[in-house]
Amino acid sequence: MEFSLKNTAAERVRSACVIVGLYEDDTFSPSAKAIDDASSGYLGSLLQRGDLSGKRAQCVLLHSVPAVAAARVLVVGLGKAGELTLKGFREALAAAVKAAASGGAKEAVAYTLEWDAPSLSTADRASHTVLVGSESAYRFDRFKSKKDPGNGVLERLGVGAIAKTAQAETRAVAQAAALGEGIALAKDLGNLPGNVCTPSHLARTARELAKTHGFKTTVLEQKDIEKLGMGSFLSVTQGSAEPPKFIVMEYMGGGKKDKPVVLVGKGITFDTGGISLKPGADMDEMKYDMSGAGSVLGTFKAIAGMGLPLNVVGLIPTCENMPSGTAVKPGDIVTSMSGQTIEILNTDAEGRLILCDALTYAERYNPAAVIDIATLTGACVIALGHVVTGMYANRDELARELEDAGNAVWDRVWRMPLLEDYQEQIKSPFADMANIGGRPAGSVTAACFLARFASKYAWAHLDIAGTAWKSGRDKGSTGRPVPLLTSYLMRRAAR
Ligand code: BES
Ligand code: MN
Ligand code: ZN
Repeated sequence: MEFSLKNTAAERVRSACVIVGLYEDDTFSPSAKAIDDASSGYLGSLLQRGDLSGKRAQCVLLHSVPAVAAARVLVVGLGKAGELTLKGFREALAAAVKAAASGGAKEAVAYTLEWDAPSLSTADRASHTVLVGSESAYRFDRFKSKKDPGNGVLERLGVGAIAKTAQAETRAVAQAAALGEGIALAKDLGNLPGNVCTPSHLARTARELAKTHGFKTTVLEQKDIEKLGMGSFLSVTQGSAEPPKFIVMEYMGGGKKDKPVVLVGKGITFDTGGISLKPGADMDEMKYDMSGAGSVLGTFKAIAGMGLPLNVVGLIPTCENMPSGTAVKPGDIVTSMSGQTIEILNTDAEGRLILCDALTYAERYNPAAVIDIATLTGACVIALGHVVTGMYANRDELARELEDAGNAVWDRVWRMPLLEDYQEQIKSPFADMANIGGRPAGSVTAACFLARFASKYAWAHLDIAGTAWKSGRDKGSTGRPVPLLTSYLMRRAAR
């Protein structure tokens, strides 16, 4: 999908569809008003007849409105004037774009900058218009022999502007378009089946991104991983026929002295549980267990597309978790790269086993901050559901920055307790720690395990088990937390 800023009045813009707003008190948005004036009160007469509604996200598609250049006019309800929130703004626009596309329009211009959403700057409105448009155009149908023809999407979306726009809005459109592409990449990688999206596929994707955008990518193979002493990571891959990879991406958009932010993504391309085998129901969804890795790749695509001026390193430990005659067994003890030993009591708690070695590897960058992203625990889904990502941090400032960044792009996190008291639960009689801490607070004890490998720098852990994908009828990757991570990095680059 293509995006642009259109500095033309709504009644004059040549487009398949213009999208304008109507408030619940029956007042028009400025562009709706302009169309009403040009058409000698056509919209007003429809309103009087009760054919238009200002109820939020209610849509009416009009054809051939008199004296209006566009073929269609889509009037969308915005609720009470002055009460439009970011959530409401996004919902109203999403409904409008969907109605325009299913009404046959191939492109549209949305006059959203003028919508009365007090908490949003015009640049924010431009940015969310593009993000919502990009989101609505996403399809994953590459394995369908026949594409659904009723599945209309817009090919182009303009952000209509009647007031003078500044550089901020133009930049917002370009940056949001880059973010949209990063989100789509993360979704594609998540939605791909485990037989296609293997560790080698993730490595290939990283190499291609690096080539396109001119940053450095190194892929460490099994023997390199052995040399580094990543005994914990290696224990997870040992039951699988698919070779593991340790992907290192280095985007150096900042100066030599700029300490990098390191992103670490869990890349289990399929999680059967291993010898501690998972039950069969819904096990297909464990193809999404590489969503952390996908979010790192998506974020790299976004920030490289924007050319953000800062240094970011991406680390992706990736392998399958399979049961077999060579698989790791409950009770096995392994030595991590840090030297700390781990008693593996449950082979299904494998995410932390691959992440801990990546967290140790991160030390060599003398990082400004390290953020790991992982579909780590079912317990996090029980605690927080599918609304917010569970966040743990060993620095309050980093936690606050992530909260703010997430709120700004509607990709929210909620801080969870990383308290010393919970460390008790992962003690082992035989090794330095066990890889599970029992049923209570399962998401917290997983974070506590990781914390033991992240004591040398500012660190945050994002448990995206509940937010990375949707189940049921609209099963699919959400692309989260690419918006959050990109927003965080954009804010860092700007300060
Ligand atoms: N990938 C899963 C976590 C998961 C499960 C995410 C369901 C989303 C939905 C992870 O590797 C796992 O299996 N965790 C175990 C840990 C337990 C054995 C301590 C879990 O959550 O059951
Ligand atoms: Mn598991
Ligand atoms: Zn897993």
